[in-house]
Amino acid sequence: MESMTFILFGATGDLAKRKIYPALYNLFADGKFPSSFSVIGLGRREVPDAQFQSNVEQAVQTFSRRKPQDSAQMQQFLSAFRYCSLNVNHPEDYKKLLQLAEQREAELGIKSNRLFYLSVAPEFFDVIALNIQNSGLGHTEGWKRLIIEKPFGHDLESARELNEKLSKAFAEDEIYRIDHYLGKPMVQNLEALKFANPFLQDVWNHDYVANVQITAAETVGVEERAGYYDHSGAIRDMVQNHMLQMLMMTAMDKPAQVTASDIRAEKRKVMEALRPLTAEQVQNEIVRAQYGRGELNGKSLPGYKEEPDIGPDSQNDTFIAARVWIDNEKWAGVPFYIRTGKRMAEKSTRIVVEFKRDAADPYAAQGQPATPNLLVISVNPQEGATLSINSKNPMNGKLETVHLTFNEQNKEVPEAYERLIYDALRGDSTFFAHWDEVELSWKWVQPVLNAFQAGTVPLHTYAAGSYGPEASAKLLAEHGFTWWLDD
Ligand code: BG6
Repeated sequence: MESMTFILFGATGDLAKRKIYPALYNLFADGKFPSSFSVIGLGRREVPDAQFQSNVEQAVQTFSRRKPQDSAQMQQFLSAFRYCSLNVNHPEDYKKLLQLAEQREAELGIKSNRLFYLSVAPEFFDVIALNIQNSGLGHTEGWKRLIIEKPFGHDLESARELNEKLSKAFAEDEIYRIDHYLGKPMVQNLEALKFANPFLQDVWNHDYVANVQITAAETVGVEERAGYYDHSGAIRDMVQNHMLQMLMMTAMDKPAQVTASDIRAEKRKVMEALRPLTAEQVQNEIVRAQYGRGELNGKSLPGYKEEPDIGPDSQNDTFIAARVWIDNEKWAGVPFYIRTGKRMAEKSTRIVVEFKRDAADPYAAQGQPATPNLLVISVNPQEGATLSINSKNPMNGKLETVHLTFNEQNKEVPEAYERLIYDALRGDSTFFAHWDEVELSWKWVQPVLNAFQAGTVPLHTYAAGSYGPEASAKLLAEHGFTWWLDD
């Protein structure tokens, strides 16, 4: 791997501590890092290098999946880190940064390959990109790349504006838009499950699939993020990005080759075929809700409006369920249901594919119809897959459901951030969101946002600790289905 300089905006932030430093350390310890590299952390505050290195070490000790044992190795890792204070709006600070980057490149004798990682509030994305360009930081002998966190825009228009600005400094193939769900092992595995198994490939279509249910349920509430979340809601926070990305990965057709461009082309086709919603349809196809008081595991939980820094009149959604249709030959007539919410009954991200029943089920005549086959892909916190099939119980001769399961037990599996940073270092953009995907996702979401804004979609309430409002169950019941695995 080519040597490089990793330039991190937001170096004193929470994401850096919890995810980015541990990921860098794990890659380093796994030998997945270039032999020569430099890391420059940036933040507003003045922090001496020694302090910065000790903060990084602390973050690694606390949050890394690998616990550092070898102190010489840790020292070698930390010796690559420097800190530079920077006000994102001050062009002269970028000059200072350029000097430091060049000085480190000269000290290490490495070519200027620069990875810029923006782990900062979204309002700074464009000004940083502009200053990278204007200061000369972006003029490298080798490559330059930009990793950018979500949210990518607040709606279709702002996403387009942001992209326009970024594209003045970085070409599309230099921009790596993080959607950490694309870094999750089982989301990445979807591609292999579908395309490396002919028996699944053959039934992955409307002839055999009755419906698909994609759930991302969380038990946490708004936490300390009221300022952001109360203006975003579940629709922007989860649906526009993670949920639609999982939908694309689930529904996409076989790529000509397993390459970034072919996979992204297939994902784009899914979004192009996703049926747009009219303002009126939004009312029937989308369920919007907010959690009220409730309890989980015997602990009583506050309602959303009682959470710190949330106003008593907030009309924000903390839960969304949607029924969507992919109007192409493969998926004609198959409803895809997506559902996500805070303060639900369990933390679980899963994709359930329900297969059609046999219209001529011979067991139905005997009063014990076969239950539908399900393929359950567990994304988080368990990782694995279960295929449920009907089998005859040898004791009583009756049909029963049995599960063929694989569970990933290996705790050494790299985390999403490790995988994604590693891919960006290698220049592999397969599991990053392409602008086309982001734009098409916003295009689909925009009428939903408009309808929410216009107040034409009721805001249901659900008890904290539950599986969401009744309306979400009704959405499936309209086509004779139920959410699987809700206990
Ligand atoms: C983030 C959202 O993108 O994903 C959070 O902003 C959410 O609100 C989180 O909690 C969920 O991620 P995970 O990996 O825990 O499912």
